[in-house]
Amino acid sequence: MSRRLLRVRTLAVAALFLLILWFYFPFARDTGSESGRLAQYMNRASPRIKPLKSTIDWAAINFQFPVARTPAVPPVKPHTRLPHIQHAFDRESPDDAIKRNLRRDEVRKTFKKSWASYRQYAWMKDVLKPISGTSADQFCGWAATLVDSLDTLWIMGMREEFYEAAKAVARIDFGFSTSGRVNIFETNIRYLGGLLAAYDLSGHEALKFKAIEIGNLLYGGFNTENHMPVDFIDFETAKTGQGLEVEDYVVSASPGTLTMEFTRLSQITGDPKWYAAVAEVMEVFRDTQNTTLLPGMWPMFVSMRRKDMASNYQFSIGGNADSLFEYLPKQYQLLGGAEPKYMWMSRTFMDTAKKNLFFRPMTPDNADILLSGNIDVLDDGPHLDPESEHLSCFIGGLYALGGRLFENEDYIETGARLTRGCIWAYHAMPTGVMPERYNVIKCESRLNCKWDEAKWKEEIQQKKQYKDHLPKGFTTAKDPRYILRPEAIESVFVLYRITGRREFQDAAWEMFQAVRDVTSTQFAAAAIKDVTVPKDKVEREDYMESFWLAETLKYFYLVFSPPDLISLDEYVLNTEAHPFKRAR
Ligand SMILES: *[C@@H]1O[C@H](CO)[C@@H](O)[C@H](O)[C@H]1NC(C)=O
Repeated sequence: MSRRLLRVRTLAVAALFLLILWFYFPFARDTGSESGRLAQYMNRASPRIKPLKSTIDWAAINFQFPVARTPAVPPVKPHTRLPHIQHAFDRESPDDAIKRNLRRDEVRKTFKKSWASYRQYAWMKDVLKPISGTSADQFCGWAATLVDSLDTLWIMGMREEFYEAAKAVARIDFGFSTSGRVNIFETNIRYLGGLLAAYDLSGHEALKFKAIEIGNLLYGGFNTENHMPVDFIDFETAKTGQGLEVEDYVVSASPGTLTMEFTRLSQITGDPKWYAAVAEVMEVFRDTQNTTLLPGMWPMFVSMRRKDMASNYQFSIGGNADSLFEYLPKQYQLLGGAEPKYMWMSRTFMDTAKKNLFFRPMTPDNADILLSGNIDVLDDGPHLDPESEHLSCFIGGLYALGGRLFENEDYIETGARLTRGCIWAYHAMPTGVMPERYNVIKCESRLNCKWDEAKWKEEIQQKKQYKDHLPKGFTTAKDPRYILRPEAIESVFVLYRITGRREFQDAAWEMFQAVRDVTSTQFAAAAIKDVTVPKDKVEREDYMESFWLAETLKYFYLVFSPPDLISLDEYVLNTEAHPFKRAR
């Protein structure tokens, strides 16, 4: 071989090598923002991640009941341009920046401790047990905490850890499950949501590849006679393509919380099948919205088998129903306003909930706050039970978001009062953390309310629960645990980004210190058994849900970050705090 030929070959090989590099380098999608700058900087050093195919090709299963309809994702039109969501923040003073960064570092330190223990003691398992330093599988054994934490690692700038985790995620086998039943709701919000957000932030194709795999597995849940989704996928049956049977009554959040993830998957792949499947489900919800026992809202239990939304009489925006409502304004935003149906459904439920579910509790300082209760519709009409729960604390943030999207100041103020309700419940407890579920006394009027100690004492005598040490205002702490939940800080974060009011950042700092101090274990953070006892008497449980890293610490971190990091004008967060790029 001549020298000349050798040189040509070398050049050709080098060119090929450069071409390959070029293709595998993910591009920074959001230039200009802090996350965008970080992405650009880091992508220069980003490694190649090669996905490993799962042992089952879920896309190749022949369905007994294939879906024929395929409405595509509607395109964004110029006249549907959405209003600004975030507050126009002023330039920050150097002192404020120092204080904020110190707080943010404390949050990252707490995250790093939990992450390091997960990595050491529970790697590739669903959860870390934070007291014993052992692990467990809870959601089919696909490394739930790992997938759920990917985008938090990215957002916190922990790139080495991110790439280590992303490489591990690229090797997960969705063809094998530690459980015979796949919970559609949890798999969708944690696994599919986690992968989509990690892809949206980092641009790594391997993450999209894995999102498509799990998306195809979940799509198998629609292989049913009436094209409505099941609650649980039977893993072995789903492999055969034999049709699944839709359960009778399920919690309404289950079929109602697929829209965002399925829509985002259709957006990034260009394959409309996922969007088409959930569009059909949402048609059923739309057609029944005004025909339920509390017109404008759907009850906690619905039958997708019989498309019956009108039999159950229990209504709440808390557990069982929560994210069904959450996903209506968010789906509208994700689609860039291109599907007005979601705006009308949102406004209808928001007006109904505001009128019927929200109430002012009687507190010793006559605080002007709101909480969300439960409604039972009986023969003589709706009855409000002034019982609230941590899960319903997301609603303040959702009203603020809806207020911006639909240009309604009243929704924003309602959202602020609801958020202050949750802040009050944190602050009132000796631990500084609110309980899972509790009761209070409802004021007759939302406009003014006077503390009546005799009335409170009478009520706690009647309820006979924890009456010796309950803070004034509470009549029970029905479920006194705190299990590392995010909903309160979620609303505090959203209210801060939307109103720019410092009160929310300061409340977040109080909440963070309280939560960190009472949950901290040798390895990570643990659920606590009773928030109504003094701090030094707190008992912990060997239990750390993946949402501690996916949501709770992410929101605490973001509230102390520059407002362009995961701007609510660029991203919509799913119910597991995974940010999706919105259409524009
Ligand atoms: C339900 O009622 C509300 C309020 O009257 C109305 O705005 C909305 O369009 C109705 N929804 C449907 C699907 O008819």
